[in-house]
Amino acid sequence: MTRLRVLAVASEMNPLVKTGGLADVVGALPAALAAQNVETRTLIPGYPEVLAALRVGETVLSFDDLFGGPAWVHAGRLGDVDVYALVAPHLYAREGGPYADTDGVDYPDNALRFAALGWAGAQMAQGALSEFIPDVLHAHDWQAALAPVYLHYSDRPRPATVLTVHNIAFQGQYPKELLEDLLLPPEAFAVDGVEYYGAIGFLKGGLQLCDRITTVSPTYAQEIETSEFGMGLEGLLRARAEVVTGILNGVDESVWNPAKDPRIEARYDHFSLATRARNKTALQKRMRLRADAEAFLLGVVSRMSWQKGHDMLLANLPALMARQAQLALIGTGEKDLEEGFRAAQDAYPGRVSVTIGYSEDLAHLIQAGADAFLVPSRFEPCGLTQLYALRYGAVPVVSRVGGLKDTIIDANEMALQAGVATGLQFSPPTAEALAIALAQAERLFRDTDTWRKLQINGMKTDVSWRHPAERYAELYREAVAARAG
Ligand code: ADP
Ligand code: GLC
Repeated sequence: MTRLRVLAVASEMNPLVKTGGLADVVGALPAALAAQNVETRTLIPGYPEVLAALRVGETVLSFDDLFGGPAWVHAGRLGDVDVYALVAPHLYAREGGPYADTDGVDYPDNALRFAALGWAGAQMAQGALSEFIPDVLHAHDWQAALAPVYLHYSDRPRPATVLTVHNIAFQGQYPKELLEDLLLPPEAFAVDGVEYYGAIGFLKGGLQLCDRITTVSPTYAQEIETSEFGMGLEGLLRARAEVVTGILNGVDESVWNPAKDPRIEARYDHFSLATRARNKTALQKRMRLRADAEAFLLGVVSRMSWQKGHDMLLANLPALMARQAQLALIGTGEKDLEEGFRAAQDAYPGRVSVTIGYSEDLAHLIQAGADAFLVPSRFEPCGLTQLYALRYGAVPVVSRVGGLKDTIIDANEMALQAGVATGLQFSPPTAEALAIALAQAERLFRDTDTWRKLQINGMKTDVSWRHPAERYAELYREAVAARAG
């Protein structure tokens, strides 16, 4: 296997900056790919928290004027992983999050902020850094999707390009008047370029012009070719179907491993499952839930949005509470959902505990302490929390869509008999179907041996990055070969 060099371009990377699963994936892939003889270096925006946390080395590239101001690329290290931070104070030195200000309002210049990321990535992919000339540029999501577009319209030699869709609901659409400001040539504004319903589509352009498209599960790869899930891009994806691949995400086992996790109360594995109970007790205490080893404790760690379907959980709370169940939830997002859960906490003190906010520590403790873990998404490209739940012995209850469908084996009668089930799936994603699944989960929970079998099956499932990394490495090599040929 010859050594391959990959420049990854993304807007998040765990543990430097994270709003969701994208960061987990971008953070974990380099180490997993190293085992496949693929050297990955990752370009991310130099947000304040990135520059504060990264051990920054030398400046390897500078721009006099990158979309409105000077910018530099700093080479930094994160453990064994090389990270390039794009330092552009006029674009990234802000108080809010990566995409929105402290009030949650998107920055008005996001088009320029992420065009800059794509532009810098494209320059680096074309030899701007003599020390690292990549064979592949791998862009993640719309924020990086202009990188393959710039490469397409450049007449200099370029590497193969791969674009991964983590969530097709976010596309990066901007007025056509920005075309010149974004340094896109006039011919780019066409159906076979970035033009999308009369506007400029970052993701659309990237999907149109990259060499290979991947998404984060085989089922989602099929779903996005349909009008129900494709969010308008299904036609393009159908037309390019032969270059679309679904590769499941894995779990970063250096971060999510119940046998070594410093964030939980008591460490355990599938041989020492009994120890896990101490985490349930600790979780109940920390979240002010009633101390009760017998209560069916349901965990949720999630963004609060229509996608994730927690309105269906709210609808099911009265029935759950009537059965003396408990809920431990941490999430942030849409205000009406946050309000709904706050009200539920007031209505059921000691049995519903809601933390509105973001905490890695609590996310880990919920995985380690909850009996079941709920992911009732309306669509889910892959989903990572159900994989963490498998690792941690919190039995996942999930809707049968996207990556949830691909990663959980439903405890139907056949699977139970065969001894292979790992969780529960429900379909369609409605409150009624969820009600049935929750009642069934609780019945299985009361059947201690069956439940333990579900937990152990989950904990023994290989959710590592090893297989996915092999698939990415293979895909990179194919893309490079196709370009050379
Ligand atoms: P998505 O990326 O769509 O939000 P994923 O399941 O792929 O969904 O990834 C979500 C990631 O974000 C997981 O690592 C999860 O633990 C984390 N996460 C989500 N919400 C919170 C929160 N409120 N506090 C801590 N971690 C969270
Ligand atoms: C997106 C998706 C989620 C996926 C994550 C990482 O945020 O919503 O399903 O797991 O990206 O690929």
